[in-house]
Amino acid sequence: MADTHRPRLIRVNDLSDAALAGLFAKARAFCDGSPAPQSLAGRIVVHLFYENSTRTRVSFEIAAKRLGAEVVNISAVGASVAKGETLVDTVRTIDVYYPDAIVLRHPDAGAPEKILPHTSAAVINAGDGARGHPTQALLDALTMLDVLKRDRLDGVTIAIVGDILHSRVARSNIELLPRLGARVRLIGPRCFLPEAFEHMNVECAHDFDTAMTGCDIIMMLRVQLERHAGASFGSQSEYHRRYGLTLERLEARAPKAVVMHPGPVNRGVELASDVMDDPRCLIQQQVANGQFVRMAALDMLINGGAA
Ligand code: NCD
Repeated sequence: MADTHRPRLIRVNDLSDAALAGLFAKARAFCDGSPAPQSLAGRIVVHLFYENSTRTRVSFEIAAKRLGAEVVNISAVGASVAKGETLVDTVRTIDVYYPDAIVLRHPDAGAPEKILPHTSAAVINAGDGARGHPTQALLDALTMLDVLKRDRLDGVTIAIVGDILHSRVARSNIELLPRLGARVRLIGPRCFLPEAFEHMNVECAHDFDTAMTGCDIIMMLRVQLERHAGASFGSQSEYHRRYGLTLERLEARAPKAVVMHPGPVNRGVELASDVMDDPRCLIQQQVANGQFVRMAALDMLINGGAA
């Protein structure tokens, strides 16, 4: 059985301040257009995805390939998982081939820690339940730093809006953004923003129009219908009326703000189509940065420098 002290990126706070700065610097270097070094040539990266994904999976795969790694994709549909094999047994099977990294997406919070003792590979969390999605927060932060042309986010107010309760993206950003100096304001209906969030290092508000005023960055979240076991908001049109970002709302309350969204977007629910087409909307930059952040993360975890 492998040791439990190998490189991992399961939560944002697995990265020290130095590693965080190093990761951003590396991602920027990859972004500057020069050909990527084949720093992962001969390495094997396994993608183990138990949940749907488009952008996270594609960008991890492209990131690994750009650095010369071989990629093996395993998804729950079409693998032994679908025959009832446990996560740990699947990982023990994969580990026999000595992969260099396992990128795991799983519906259960804590799944990445569960596999750590059963592999010698570096473990990267690509989303575990509603708990964490560190590389998404890192690409979000890199996009903010780029657009503001800064190295930190001191004095920047960032609204995270919508279905906070079910959002691993929100949780990872709540962990990361205050470390970079940002003020984080969570906005959503009480069913998606319960009191527990008030004890985190953030502000909480329930009226979108009032709370978005003065924000520099507005990060909209998808209403995660697939995670709503119990009560949710009600009709989508009512949600859009109160918490959807429209151009009118943006112009009236925060015309200088930029807009972000991790994707996939429910058009016309959390974001009006015309906002998605507005130059203030940074979704495409987020997607582009996903590749560079994941190249940096894979390189640091496999080749060293992630401590
Ligand atoms: C997010 C996810 O899967 O956590 N998407 C992503 O990774 N880009 C957010 C979501 O599904 O709404």
